[in-house]
Parts: sequence; C-alpha cells; structure tokens
Amino acid sequence: MSDNGSPLTITVRIQRFNPDVDRKLYLQDFKVAWQQGMTILDALHTIKAEQDGSLTFRRSCRHAICGSCAMNVNGRNMLVCEQPIKAHLNRKNEITIRPLPYLPIIKDLVVDRTTFWAQYMRVKPWLIPPENIPEKEFRMSPEEVAALQDAEHCIMCGACYSACTVVGTTKEYIGPHALLKAFLRVMDVRDSAPGERLADIAGSDGVYRCHTIFNCIDACPKHLNPTRAIETLRKLAQKRLAFEAARAERQKHLDKPVTSG
Ligand code: F3S
Ligand code: FES
Repeated sequence: MSDNGSPLTITVRIQRFNPDVDRKLYLQDFKVAWQQGMTILDALHTIKAEQDGSLTFRRSCRHAICGSCAMNVNGRNMLVCEQPIKAHLNRKNEITIRPLPYLPIIKDLVVDRTTFWAQYMRVKPWLIPPENIPEKEFRMSPEEVAALQDAEHCIMCGACYSACTVVGTTKEYIGPHALLKAFLRVMDVRDSAPGERLADIAGSDGVYRCHTIFNCIDACPKHLNPTRAIETLRKLAQKRLAFEAARAERQKHLDKPVTSG
C-alpha cells in the first residue's frame, strides 16, 4: 500500500545483458506490486517468477551472510537481500539495479569474480600456525581479539572491491577485501608468518596502491573499515622485522593470554 492506502506499483529498472543476443547493455523497466516487507531481492524473484524467467542474478542465503547477492542499487553497492525496497525508491517510486561495477558481466546482474578471488588467494587468507601448537588451546587476550577489528566478519561479498576506483583502473591491485584478510592474519597472534605477509603486501600492487578513497568503507554491508586496516598494514610493513620478532616471542607461550595490564 502507498502512504494514502492505495496499492503501490513500483518501477524496477534493471540493467540487462545477454552475451548470446545483445550487443550492448540496456535498461529494462518492470512494474511490480509492492508488498509490505518486500526486499530488493524479493522484487527480483517476483519479476523472474512472473514476468521474465530469463532474468539472471545470484543469491543464496537471503540472510546477508553468503555475500552472493551484492549488486549496485541507485549507484551504491549493497546486499539486496537485506534491503527493504521501499527505502530505495525515488519520488516516482523507481529503483535502478545494476551489477557490481568494474567487473566483467557474465549475464544481467551476474559478474565474473575471477580477479576478486585470485587476489584473495594471493594473500594466503588461511592461518599459518606455529610448530609448537599448544596442547589444549590457543589463548588470546581481549586486547588481542579486539586488535582484529572485527575483520573476521567480512563475508567476501565483493561490495568493497567493486566500489574501489583503483580496482576500476587496474586489476593488479590486491584490493580492500584481500588486504582486510591479510590484516586479519597479520594481527592474529596465532599466525606465524606476519613478516612474510607484510613483505608480500608491501609491493606496488599492495597497500601503497590504495589512494585512501574510502569507497570501500561506504560500500561494506558489515560496516567494516578496510581503509583503517590498510593504514595499519602500511605502518607495520615499515617495522616488519621488529613486528616479526615480537610475534615469535608471543608464540613461545600461546597457551597463556597476554594482557596489556
Ligand atoms: Fe580503494 Fe578503499 Fe583504498 S576504496 S583506494 S581500497 S580506501
Ligand atoms: Fe546471501 Fe544476500 S543472498 S547475502
């Protein structure tokens, strides 16, 4: 219902492209009956089910956790499964949905994430444990956990990567998503390769390629701060050897938490 109680019809404008038949991208309008609580993803499902079965998009969890439904809505990257569509309508009750920018389009709203994943793998996003693993468990202090700055909450949706204009100019750049994961491993006291990691991300395609544009922060649906993580990595890269030595010292007693007090 609209504000005056009458049924509300909205216009969902979608960027289309089928490489088998289209020579260029185009926008197509679909009229949809708005329903209370309708998300942007719900509207896409309604269009696919009732108007055009060829409409192609990715989604899976519908709970803002798998990251597959990241798209560009009215110029901003977001997870469409968690966004009420009404919050994004203009005065004419229109919304415009495009695929994530700066990535090759496979079909309609589906992009090719090959470079995104390749850069992710480049930072070795897994934990490299020390040889002397504690018999029972690793013990981290609250300060050591807080230093990770919630970076483990990243769901790898690609919203930050495809909002970064540096990524738009070169796919050589590691990118905010992968640098955030590198930060997570460098800061984790259980990881035994911080020196190697800092050396790897200090090249011309790494932390110094970031121009502090901040688009990655604006785009992150989990409210993470890749820019701050990149800044921290830059500082640590400059004192890499000392950081590496401090980590080795810490790992001599990983079965005990260390507190700042
Ligand atoms: Fe890109 Fe974020 Fe740096 S948008 S340039 S990674 S601050
Ligand atoms: Fe999984 Fe949106 S469908 S994050």
